[in-house]
Amino acid sequence: MWKQHSGIMLALDVENRAQAFRLLDLIGEDCDAIKFNYPLVLREGLSIVTEVKNRCKKPILCDFKVADVPVTNDRIIRICGEAGADGVMVHGFIGMDALQSAVQVAGNTALFLVTQMTNPGGLDFTAQFTDEFAAMARTFGLAGVQAPGNRPEVVRHVRKIIGPDMMIVCCGIGAQGGKFGAAIEAGATFEIIGRAIYDAKDPVAKVAEIKAATRPFIKS
Ligand code: XMP
Repeated sequence: MWKQHSGIMLALDVENRAQAFRLLDLIGEDCDAIKFNYPLVLREGLSIVTEVKNRCKKPILCDFKVADVPVTNDRIIRICGEAGADGVMVHGFIGMDALQSAVQVAGNTALFLVTQMTNPGGLDFTAQFTDEFAAMARTFGLAGVQAPGNRPEVVRHVRKIIGPDMMIVCCGIGAQGGKFGAAIEAGATFEIIGRAIYDAKDPVAKVAEIKAATRPFIKS
């Protein structure tokens, strides 16, 4: 399901459905997985997740950073799974009871836990708990964690905590300063890349550039 080939998880944060499908037609094949965030889904509805899933046959991650009480988290995870999402991102600070409940409801839907935000403010609060979040994700047997790709040393550290088998997905690459390939070199499974691709003059050429940078570190 979550196979690493190019190492690219596309952040599909474009304005609307037409732009989404235009981009996917151009570079979708070269992406290992597709990540949705709120803006596109709020504009087009959750049905776009189902549509993209049916058309692209790629793993889909709903990066909804779920951070509520268990009853609500669990509903969000269930609804995403029913819409075709293969994974959902949750925050670590929801605590153990909420995470346990999420794991129970998730079933085949992979859960990913945020360990540290990529923006400068990620160092204000989340960084102090990165180790605990990573350890908690491992303890609860989650599919993976998110780590900041613009801080490869943190990715390397998180990999040590969670061991070799769980996935690490990294934002912070390209537009947020991280170098293409650096997170995968540090132990990530996928580099989440949005603006660097969809804002590029030539997204096809940009993806070729990214693949050239990740290739030396791809294991499969
Ligand atoms: P860009 O355009 O910066 O898109 O390549 C990155 C995508 O990832 C989201 N993002 C994050 N998600 N933890 C996350 O779980 C983070 O620290 C983080 N930083 C960025 C961002 O919203 C966009 O969808």
